[in-house]
Amino acid sequence: MFHVACGFVAHGNKGDFMSMPKVTVVGAGFVGATAAQRIVEKDLADVVLIDIVEGLPQGKALDMMESAPVEGFFSKILGTNRYEDTAGSDVIVITAGLARKPGMSRDDLLFRNAEIVGGIVTECAKYSPDAVIVMVTNPLDVMTWLAQKKSGFPAERVIGMAGELDSARYSYFIAEKLGCKPSDVRAMVLGGHGDQMVPVPEHTKVNGKPVTQLMDAATIEAINRRTRDGGAEIVKLLKTGSAYYAPSSSAVKMVRAILRDTGETIPSCVYLKGPYGLNGVYCGVPAKLGKGGLKEVVEIQLTDGERAELHRSAQDVLRNFEKLKL
Ligand code: LAC
Repeated sequence: MFHVACGFVAHGNKGDFMSMPKVTVVGAGFVGATAAQRIVEKDLADVVLIDIVEGLPQGKALDMMESAPVEGFFSKILGTNRYEDTAGSDVIVITAGLARKPGMSRDDLLFRNAEIVGGIVTECAKYSPDAVIVMVTNPLDVMTWLAQKKSGFPAERVIGMAGELDSARYSYFIAEKLGCKPSDVRAMVLGGHGDQMVPVPEHTKVNGKPVTQLMDAATIEAINRRTRDGGAEIVKLLKTGSAYYAPSSSAVKMVRAILRDTGETIPSCVYLKGPYGLNGVYCGVPAKLGKGGLKEVVEIQLTDGERAELHRSAQDVLRNFEKLKL
């Protein structure tokens, strides 16, 4: 495979050209712009960055394109305010909406963001009827469910980013405590992306060893607490706005799995029809992602306590979803 000056990737030996996959990122704020940057820098896809603020997506896109000669990527990014430009996207990442302010819970954003996300999804679905939607806007689980309803897409094609972020934070906190490499830790956090999320220490491994064999219960519980409050800890430090580096990394990991059809297991917010005894609710569980979105829900062994926590968390999602009266 070689790069040619026009920016397309040649494949095969017939001299034909294959265009890159297309990803739309809705919202050119910190999460959206950083996600767009990660996608193009990894050459995963060409990106359309769309926002309602005139000039913002155009400015950020141009700035990123000007980094291409330095970074050496060949993907392209277009900034726009028009949904027409998003047509035919393979994946749509929705990051638009209000972010939390200090002292706000994710649920405080429910009604405002439902309005914003509802409008966006309708437009995106119109122009990209075959896309997979990756929701990032909070409150995450309810917004993912809303996107499925508004798009009319099969549930497999509408998934939410949260479990990977929560698991990444859990991994980092464990690595920090043990003094090992963050990449040595593979953590598992289930449930809704809220105060009821469910860290699962028995399925959290450090170089293959359960963390329960490496730390005492009190230390693990303190890390569980910090993970549940992980988003709020950043909001409190930043004062204006919420986290975006780890959220964008996590969303792009999901985008990559979908575009490259890797089938890897990534904790994600998906629609459950039976696994874990949950039926008819969006909630965070380990899921195999690939072409077309959700391939399969992975059921791991939970203790009775963890299962009860997962059900409580799902109940919470359901209660909030019902508030929207869709
Ligand atoms: C967080 C927000 C984005 O967890 O939900 O950082």
